[in-house]
Amino acid sequence: MTTRNRLLVKGGKVVNADRSFDADVYIEDGIISQVGKNLTVPGGTRTIDASGKIVMPGGIDTHTHMQLPYMGTCAIDDFYTGTKAALAGGTTMIIDFALPFKGESPIDGFNKWKNWADPKVCCDYALHVAVSWWSQKVSDEMEELVTKHGVNSFKLYMAYKDLLMVGDLEMYETCKRSQEIGAIVLCHAENGEIIDQESKKLVKLGITGPEGHAMSRPEEVEAAATAHICMIANQLNCPLYIVHVMSKSSAKVIIEARNRGNVVYGEPIAAGLGTDGTNYWHKCWRHAAGHVMGPPLRPDPTTPEYLMRLLAGGQLECTGTDNCTFSTHQKALGKDDFTQIPNGINGVEDRMSVIWEKGVAKGILDENRFVAVTSTNAAKIFNMYPQKGVIAPGSDADIVVWDPNATRTISAKTHHQAVDFNIFEGMVCHGVTVCTISRGKVVYEDGRFTVSAGDGKYVPRKPFSNYVYDRVLKRREALKPVPVEREPYTGAVYKRKEEKPAPPASVNMHHTTSISSAGQHIESKLSPRAQNTSTKVLAPPGGRSQIQF
Ligand code: URP
Ligand code: ZN
Ligand code: ZN
Repeated sequence: MTTRNRLLVKGGKVVNADRSFDADVYIEDGIISQVGKNLTVPGGTRTIDASGKIVMPGGIDTHTHMQLPYMGTCAIDDFYTGTKAALAGGTTMIIDFALPFKGESPIDGFNKWKNWADPKVCCDYALHVAVSWWSQKVSDEMEELVTKHGVNSFKLYMAYKDLLMVGDLEMYETCKRSQEIGAIVLCHAENGEIIDQESKKLVKLGITGPEGHAMSRPEEVEAAATAHICMIANQLNCPLYIVHVMSKSSAKVIIEARNRGNVVYGEPIAAGLGTDGTNYWHKCWRHAAGHVMGPPLRPDPTTPEYLMRLLAGGQLECTGTDNCTFSTHQKALGKDDFTQIPNGINGVEDRMSVIWEKGVAKGILDENRFVAVTSTNAAKIFNMYPQKGVIAPGSDADIVVWDPNATRTISAKTHHQAVDFNIFEGMVCHGVTVCTISRGKVVYEDGRFTVSAGDGKYVPRKPFSNYVYDRVLKRREALKPVPVEREPYTGAVYKRKEEKPAPPASVNMHHTTSISSAGQHIESKLSPRAQNTSTKVLAPPGGRSQIQF
């Protein structure tokens, strides 16, 4: 007879996205077995006392970059410290990003990230995969990632020129392919060309501090890019998810697109909900640089509450963190030039507390909406529901026992992340993790960890999430183009004069031609003129030796 791993969470209030109710939760072998009152459980079952506490699904952080290689350095929180810290904050799953560079096989990129994560993760995780170039191989491998590797989300970058940034044709092809194979497209909506030019301009003007980072990327740039990718995705009826919605303007673009019927979701992050861009003007360089991320936090201090209200109203659906941490000595790579400051901030540990404090404690979100935006909606969009994101029989026992009345003060001195700075320093938050349970095992309790590197599991995700694709598939039928039935034209037809070949152009505004990994170029579909003039080798045959953001 095998010994079963049994746990009873007793006397708490279960809070799901749809309702709250008093109930005990009985767990066997990592799965929630019963939810109800006066449960009969086998002798020897360990009991966790949750009286006076909330028992809710563990958080799902939709957006992290653990140990990301970046600008000659590497994010300091790796898959071990980052996921351990997540558990302390009540998050039991992260979705990180595999970022294959231009010319690299997407599957190789995915495997590289998975090999980094598997031996280190303390909580469950999944991977979004970036599309940074286009070819038949990329298209084929996207399908293989979906069917064989459990990936159902692909990321496009409209920033990081020459590195990850893609042009219109690549975005178009990625959206086209994604909706064929049941995936969702994620987008970092900025404009790498404009950012590049504006940054150079500011440095020339002597603006070399972190405030230059914010000045070079005003919110109209984010909003215009958001509108642009919404337009492209909508041509293909491709579901779209805008990561790190940082501004009112960008959120408004998403609301308008949703009102027009586009299938588009928006993800604000803990940083954008908990603090603002006035920090870039702080007199202390370390403090200002510690907030540098892209798109930047916005100087308008009413932005965080505005975004929180959209989460409350359902116009925005999920919350992530973009956790990508660099300690002060790493940020100092840009001490004389803001363009050299590695972009990234913390959040994976504090997201739940910050959203509770700024949302629930302020009466903007109710506790059920809190659960919706911190776990359930993510589970639905990325097709993990009801395995994740709900406390119900049959679901994974990823649970946080949460004390809504306790407070804690966030500080880099006491947090569990490796980074030496915390953008929420000094914030007093109601809402404290008492105990975190991951797949039925207590992994964090009263400030102590009982988890080892590698205890987390990769969570494969199926394509065609109902939550997303139900509407996409109906729209596919409803929006099918229909030709007009008419009698053929039988009159005279003008005879064209012989065309001269187009003269060579010096500048091509839409760089859309891409190359395969073997260096053969794939013809642009935009115009014959673009084909003649825009061929550019983006990566050498064999690719680059490492990611250089
Ligand atoms: O500043 C940020 N966001 N760093 C991480 C890279 C990205 O943009 O995803
Ligand atoms: Zn990004
Ligand atoms: Zn990111």
